[in-house]
Amino acid sequence: MRIDIVTCLPKLLDSFFAHSILKRAMDKKLVEVCVHDVREYSTHKQKQTDDYAFGGGAGMVMMIEPIDLCISQLKSERTYDAIIYMTPDGERFDQKIANKFSLFQNIIILCGHYKGVDERVRTHLITHEISIGDYVLSGGEIAAVVVSDALIRLIPGVLSDETSALTDSFQDNLLAPPVYTRPAEYKGWKVPDILLSGHEAKIEQWRHEQALERTRLRRPDLLNE
Ligand code: 6GU
Repeated sequence: MRIDIVTCLPKLLDSFFAHSILKRAMDKKLVEVCVHDVREYSTHKQKQTDDYAFGGGAGMVMMIEPIDLCISQLKSERTYDAIIYMTPDGERFDQKIANKFSLFQNIIILCGHYKGVDERVRTHLITHEISIGDYVLSGGEIAAVVVSDALIRLIPGVLSDETSALTDSFQDNLLAPPVYTRPAEYKGWKVPDILLSGHEAKIEQWRHEQALERTRLRRPDLLNE
């Protein structure tokens, strides 16, 4: 998988991909993440990428030309399965969308900023519009990292135990059951006996019951889906 991220704040993104699981996935060549500075595609002397809104008010709007030049350049190099715009008024991101996107070979993620992008970017260049929740962030960069992380961890071989993404919370509309590690007792707080019993079938059943109970208590809405 290849993810191209188009942004006016490339430095903000670099640090996220320089660490942990994401870095390991890139080192293992399981995913390629390329960050593009939209400013480099500006044809203005001052490398301007935003301008005042027609009709006044609203603040600065990202201009179409540098975004179009950047996306066109990428599209001339390979075919893209999705060109995603990160925006609070997009479709709400969830595990189902993550699963769907994780099957794609090449995607572009465009990070919005200021008061948004020229609407013609959305109508003519974008294939999907995604929000990560009902709150407003100052830019789409953090949201792009959230989406990238959710996709990358689903790529086979990225997680050391390949089954572990399948047992994630939400993967079957259930929250994950509680987990414990040594010591079996700490300050008198005990690990449930069943987990120390070595009885695999019973442990699996216990975990399923716990997942159901936890979902019923914390996210009953998931059980109705
Ligand atoms: Cl994708 N962008 C911004 N700026 N704010 C958000 C968001 C995206 N998703 C939720 N809030």
